[in-house]
Amino acid sequence: MANVMEKTLSQAIAQRRATPSFDGFPLPEKDLKRILEAGLQAPSGYNMQPWRFLVVRSEEQKRRLRAASFNQAKVEEASAVIVACGDADGWRNGDLEEMLRLGREGGMPENYSEMAKINIPNYLSNHPNFPMWLNRHVMIAFTTMMLMAEVLGYDTAPMEGFEQERVSEVLKLPLSYHVVALLAIGRLKGSDKFYGGRFNMARTVFAEEYGKPIKL
Ligand SMILES: Cc1cc2nc3c(=O)[nH]c(=O)nc-3n(C[C@H](O)[C@H](O)[C@H](O)COP(=O)(O)O)c2cc1C
Repeated sequence: MANVMEKTLSQAIAQRRATPSFDGFPLPEKDLKRILEAGLQAPSGYNMQPWRFLVVRSEEQKRRLRAASFNQAKVEEASAVIVACGDADGWRNGDLEEMLRLGREGGMPENYSEMAKINIPNYLSNHPNFPMWLNRHVMIAFTTMMLMAEVLGYDTAPMEGFEQERVSEVLKLPLSYHVVALLAIGRLKGSDKFYGGRFNMARTVFAEEYGKPIKL
């Protein structure tokens, strides 16, 4: 474990930076497991969980992944890189049945389950923007993993700088997999990046309708 004391979520949010460089400090399996499990607890529409994650830790695969990620050194330096994907066909290939089975175990009413069998395939096969649907779910789980890693005392770097086709080739991904983002996890080497600041709430948050400032 990077730190004996876990950070609070507020501390992790305040202190997190996109880490510029990692020192190769290993990520013990028990911590990796907690990070993955945290992400898998994320919410998703109809609980359909269309995310898939590939964990890259071997030096050889990290080297290949780096080459597919515009040669970003942190891909190779990090202890682990979680490649977050969405599976466009998961719901057709058993996810729906598994979601319903788990739901029934937890008390899902029978009539909900019967309706869901019809409504969910209808909804997903006619979705106006399926990549957006996939992306929003993958990123919730991804963000939960990132924050869990920070709570456990690790440093993280989210990345969109990669070539989809090359990453798919390195990881031997099925054609239905969309690579959404990479999450490098490890321990910061050297000094952290500057804090880039955040837009004022007046620019990004509105109250009741667009353009009306929120007063807090
Ligand atoms: C989805 C996503 C993709 C990103 N991709 C990259 C990347 O490929 N390379 C990189 O150096 N930083 C990347 N970043 C890091 C951002 O540049 C960084 O989060 C931003 O400048 C704000 O800095 P901070 O996270 O330290 O506050 C990415 C961040 C996010 C959320």
